[in-house]
Amino acid sequence: MGGLNADEAGFISCPAPAKINLFLHVTGRRPDGYHTLQTAFRMLDHGDVLHFRVRIDAEIRRVNDVPGVAPDQDLVVRAARLLQEHTGCILGADIRVDKRLPMGGGLGGGSSDAATTLVALNSLWQLGLPRSVLQTWALSLGADVPFFIYGRTALAEGVGEELTPLDLPPAWYVVVEPSVAVPTPQIFRDEGLTRDTEAVIISASPVGGGLQADVQKWLQQHTRNDLQPVACRLYPEVQKALDALAPFGSPGVAPRMSGSGACVFLPCTGQAQAEKVVEELNTEWRVWCAASMDLHPLHEWVSD
Ligand code: C5P
Repeated sequence: MGGLNADEAGFISCPAPAKINLFLHVTGRRPDGYHTLQTAFRMLDHGDVLHFRVRIDAEIRRVNDVPGVAPDQDLVVRAARLLQEHTGCILGADIRVDKRLPMGGGLGGGSSDAATTLVALNSLWQLGLPRSVLQTWALSLGADVPFFIYGRTALAEGVGEELTPLDLPPAWYVVVEPSVAVPTPQIFRDEGLTRDTEAVIISASPVGGGLQADVQKWLQQHTRNDLQPVACRLYPEVQKALDALAPFGSPGVAPRMSGSGACVFLPCTGQAQAEKVVEELNTEWRVWCAASMDLHPLHEWVSD
């Protein structure tokens, strides 16, 4: 890991970016209860920061307190242990988590933390596992975790683990965090959830590693999130956040929810518009804007 800088205490810092779902269609339910989806994942240049220090005993320790998440439940700790179990690695790690992304926010915070842990420790423990192996193991930690290992803007199918690269023009997004945490399982098991959106065949047309221009056009027109009506009914704050953002939209560009909520976002024409919306939005909630990020900052740490 030449070139990596550790701080005075020996910790190496690694970003864990947020994701948004540009659209999310629920296309069915599998016998195991998980739902099949079609969604477009995009990373944002905003997220958590994790700090790792290798231990020569096999202990995995989260060294700071994260309100609401016990260390043994933390996906960071579970990801590190999973890697040990699969490889028999006898090294351990101290992990500090700077939490910036909300829990139950639909921005993939916990999933991104887990992915960053797998990628970072794969390097720091010199395991040399290829991306495909990490992606496969990542799925047992959560349906969104493989995407962050994949590390590129993607169309996702299956339960979120079948990934196809997506080429999109750069964009800025305003994100509103309503002050409520939405539990993902509650949204998926709701009786009112639409589970039969017709699957569209868009992954069959990759061109030069990305998708065709007509797919980009399709994405501009299809922005629905099937989980949104359920989340808005159960958590009215989500609807309030959408209503607050709506006046800043334009024809064909409406705010929508990410993942299973609670966060909502508005695509903007650029940084200037995004910053203006953040400034003008008069709300008690946390609001920020960020640029799209089409390659994970740790992408080069894993071999394909
Ligand atoms: O995989 P993850 O831990 O993020 O999922 C949390 C819960 O959300 C699952 O236990 C499942 O109930 C639901 N879920 C689903 N279909 C998906 C993803 C999640 O039903 N594709």
